[in-house]
Amino acid sequence: MELSLTANPATPADQWTIRRVLEWTTGYLGEHGSESPRLEAEILLAHARGCPRIQLYTQFDEVLNEQVRGRMRELVTRRAHLEPVAYLVGHREFFSLDFEVTRDVLIPRPETEMLVMESLELLKDKSSPNVLDLGTGSGCIAIAIAVHAKNTNVSATDLSEAALAVAKRNATAHEVADRVTFRQGDLFAPLSTDDIFDVIVSNPPYVATDDQSDLAPDVRQHEPHEALFSGGDGLDHIRRIVDGAPQHLKSGGTLLIEFSPEQAERIVDLVEQSGEFEPPKVLSDTSRQPRAVRAKRIT
Ligand SMILES: C[S@@+](CC[C@H](N)C(=O)[O-])C[C@H]1O[C@@H](n2cnc3c(N)ncnc32)[C@H](O)[C@@H]1O
Repeated sequence: MELSLTANPATPADQWTIRRVLEWTTGYLGEHGSESPRLEAEILLAHARGCPRIQLYTQFDEVLNEQVRGRMRELVTRRAHLEPVAYLVGHREFFSLDFEVTRDVLIPRPETEMLVMESLELLKDKSSPNVLDLGTGSGCIAIAIAVHAKNTNVSATDLSEAALAVAKRNATAHEVADRVTFRQGDLFAPLSTDDIFDVIVSNPPYVATDDQSDLAPDVRQHEPHEALFSGGDGLDHIRRIVDGAPQHLKSGGTLLIEFSPEQAERIVDLVEQSGEFEPPKVLSDTSRQPRAVRAKRIT
């Protein structure tokens, strides 16, 4: 199908108003594999016009100028080639906060919000707790915790310098840069033996390289592979986190790790076999899928 936002209108009824562009784009993206084509059409058009999404509804009959149509044409073409919307517009909401995202970071997922909620629950009665976020990416977990637990200091590590640059800008934008320390390196490697935490939280890479072909094409083709893959069975990072966490957790401190639903049993086994934690609890996401483990270090 031709991307026809270019056509010159024959009559005023054919003019490219906001309403008509949204309807046309919704149909086009729907035919190109989008699961939420109307929402995506609105986000892309708001971005092309540089306006809040809500404004589209108050100006439905406004005719778009050629410049906006040109920008929209490019965005829609790229989306039809499966570039994620968050990369096209440069940001994504997580825990009701707006985060800058670039191709250097994983796009924050709604299921990861559970790690923030659990962390806040664990932190609520502590006077000035310390939290560690392993594999911080955009910084979404670390920053959401710092925003909502004002007395908390957060350390966040990532292998990727480029990801940390994005995370630092997000921390500044959310005015928590003084309480979130970013360190580049492999999991616990940037820490000293004195760095001990009340909570260690992580959404690590956990996709099995053996299962690459099961990933949605937009994820596989566009999101950073070092944020996704973790060895043949997907557990390389999680094994090392379970192994390394006790040295950096206070006695009675808690480890929280996100995983993929089919990994739940193997992760419970890993935690139990370490002998360092009380019996772990598996947490389910809003789709009732097992999604994270919570393990308290034995006191
Ligand atoms: C699944 S992403 C999670 C990003 C972010 N925390 C979130 O929830 O959206 C995993 C992150 O771990 C980082 N990473 C991968 N291997 C790592 C390692 N060995 N040490 C530290 N970070 C690592 C990746 O660069 C990526 O940013």
